[in-house]
Amino acid sequence: MTPTESPVRPRVYIETVGCQMNVLDSELVVAALKKDGYELTDDPATADVMLFNTCSVREHAEDKTYSALGRVAPLKKQDPALVIGVIGCMAQKDQEAIRGRAPYVDMVVGTGQLAKIPELVRAVRATGKPQYALSLGRTDGGRHEVEASFESYDPARDPEMRPNSSQAFVRIQIGCDKFCTYCVVPSTRGPEQSRHPDHIVSEARVLVDQGAKEVTLLGQTVNSYVFDHGDGRRTRLSDLLARLHDVDGLGRIKFVTNFPKDMTNDLLDAVRDLPKVCKYLHVPAQSGCDEMLKRMKRLYTVDEYWEMLHRARERVPGVAVSSDFIVGFCGETEDSFAKTMRMVEDARFKNSFIFKYSERPGTKAAERFPDDIPEEVKRRRNQDLLAVQNANSLTDHQQWIGREARVLVEGLSRQGQKAAGPVRQLLGRSLTDHIVVFDGNERLTGNFLTIDVNDASPFTLYGTVRTGETQGATGEYTAPRPKRVGLQVV
Ligand code: 5AD
Ligand code: SF4
Repeated sequence: MTPTESPVRPRVYIETVGCQMNVLDSELVVAALKKDGYELTDDPATADVMLFNTCSVREHAEDKTYSALGRVAPLKKQDPALVIGVIGCMAQKDQEAIRGRAPYVDMVVGTGQLAKIPELVRAVRATGKPQYALSLGRTDGGRHEVEASFESYDPARDPEMRPNSSQAFVRIQIGCDKFCTYCVVPSTRGPEQSRHPDHIVSEARVLVDQGAKEVTLLGQTVNSYVFDHGDGRRTRLSDLLARLHDVDGLGRIKFVTNFPKDMTNDLLDAVRDLPKVCKYLHVPAQSGCDEMLKRMKRLYTVDEYWEMLHRARERVPGVAVSSDFIVGFCGETEDSFAKTMRMVEDARFKNSFIFKYSERPGTKAAERFPDDIPEEVKRRRNQDLLAVQNANSLTDHQQWIGREARVLVEGLSRQGQKAAGPVRQLLGRSLTDHIVVFDGNERLTGNFLTIDVNDASPFTLYGTVRTGETQGATGEYTAPRPKRVGLQVV
């Protein structure tokens, strides 16, 4: 790039793979770089700093990052001043491999070290030398030392970094201590640590001041959240929800992801009794076969999962429950898989995310059990399970026809984005996390509306805006927002 072409402010491009925790991390990293004078670009060709926020949960996610790194190699060749950084889970786990496969990478920064990014970028630009910042491995020190090396990264929030200023993520917990045998998260995100409730509540207040109507609380096992005040007092997730419920201006609170064994009655009662809390629980079952659950070290049996599910539905009438499943885990026989099929048939989940097992080097499953289910069998089981789930999702969705759903409008639907004119298809989510589409003006984004549902598919409810609410007659109308550069999530 010649000096005359150089933008006034340096530009950062960031590509994010993976979960909501990564989306939040990217938002915070960009906000920190903005403070250092950067602006966000969605065009990699114009970037001065290019960041890849990575995921290691499945091999496919890692492949995406390596191919993206391959794609940008020529840009680095053209412009050696371009700073390329790999950050997040893969960076923490595979520093050596990244250096081997993409030696032109200037920065490798683990999940617990993201706060250092502005300083590391400055160091790369000043010295031209690569910079590395990683947390300790789980066995590289005492618990306290390892915990300290995974910093909870939650600096001041910048509303401009969110695609939709009415919705925001709030981290309440980092890390995971469950050690499911297939999973890399306990090593990539370190020991489980809960954030101080006062910090969470003040962050929610800031977010509301910035226009947030809904917050989604994030944790790998969010319902294990407990903050020990050190004086005999403990704040559980149910207590935290009650405190957040008192935040004026906040309309909705969600939390993901739950661990089945930690679904306590105090939490379910809080979900039932606090009107702002979504009547929605994402509680991954992973398998419907006890032998598989044991091998996965999930710490519950199929019966115990059912007990939790019945209890949740009994205590929280109308609650929507969704799940995750892994098919083709080591040793999963046709009989084991049939048990999972039966569970999905009977459990009436709102929806399920289904994954083919992907062996992750370094996990207990990779050490102990051969990855013995052929790819085509995994694929078939994935399709079969999805077909059963989709049929159930359709039944679940059809029950909504003729009923009303109170939605927070998230913006244009995919169809709406392609259309023209002032009235286009919008997308919102109900209190039970159902996706609802309806026609309206884009300016309704960020408002709560009542939708009369008149049709359903396995993934979507269709409806019309209740008369009188179209132009903000409810008094919740928000002014149109300027167009923003969104974070690229791939
Ligand atoms: N292979 C396939 N799916 C996995 N998950 C976690 N680890 C693996 C793996 N090695 C799935 C689980 C989890 C979701 C986030 O990803 O279902 O709930
Ligand atoms: Fe991974 Fe299990 Fe922790 Fe979830 S609970 S992040 S699947 S180890």
